Amino acid sequence: MLQINDIKKNFGPIEVLRGVTFSVDAGECIAVVGDNGAGKSTLMKIITGVYKASDGAVMLADKEITGTEPGEIRELGVEMIYQNLELASQQDVTANIFLGREPTMRFMGWDTGVIDFKSARTQAQEMIRQLGARLPSVDIQVGNLSGGQQQSVAIARALTFSPKVVIMDEPTAALAVREIQHVLDLIKELKSRGIAVILISHRLTDVFEVADRIVALRQGVVIADERTGETTMQDVVAHIVGAH
Ligand SMILES: Nc1ncnc2c1ncn2[C@@H]1O[C@H](COP(=O)(O)OP(=O)(O)O)[C@@H](O)[C@H]1O
Ligand SMILES: [Mg+2]
Repeated sequence: MLQINDIKKNFGPIEVLRGVTFSVDAGECIAVVGDNGAGKSTLMKIITGVYKASDGAVMLADKEITGTEPGEIRELGVEMIYQNLELASQQDVTANIFLGREPTMRFMGWDTGVIDFKSARTQAQEMIRQLGARLPSVDIQVGNLSGGQQQSVAIARALTFSPKVVIMDEPTAALAVREIQHVLDLIKELKSRGIAVILISHRLTDVFEVADRIVALRQGVVIADERTGETTMQDVVAHIVGAH
């Protein structure tokens, strides 16, 4: 579904990614692990078009998306859930789920361009219900929700438009234990729907629960790419810190 071919990135003289290659199949979850500064977030920003690669290519189902604008990459089905969630805290849940992609009213078959708030609200409620998230209402301001509830809104936003690939950067970092399990169950659900998932996480117990493969990055290169069932937590820690 997604293939990363020899991606390089430098910021001026600093080489942050020095030729990264790996791929993710439909229905597969790849965990990308590595110490702070290894280049994980930079790589994800290249996949989503936020940064331009210095060299190499990103392919989405055999179509090259390198150099494509972020909005278009999202339209093609690559969704990213950022570490800091990037929600509009002053706006309600419905507005955050759609953020500029609200359904519009049709009149005699023509798109009027007028936002259909009622339909947006109903779709938002349905999305939250499908996720099994517990929110008091979709009309509540996102800034008034708990960390886990905000995470659910960010995930609902990513899933509303039937993505092919979902990238999550530390999705459980700020969550309570019960909420973490909820996110992990959700990743399993995405896999069962045939979505390719890239999970960045420092929590190796989470990684071992949901990932099919673990890609370890160190100083901008892949130093290990192993099936979860064929490695151990000790080995993964050793890759991260550079002990082997
Ligand atoms: N916009 C930028 N300009 C210069 N250096 C950057 C920029 N973004 C990231 N870096 C550097 O790239 C390296 C990798 O960062 P990052 O991708 O955020 O790592 P990770 O997510 O694995 O912690 C770091 O040394 C960081 O300082
Ligand atoms: Mg990062």
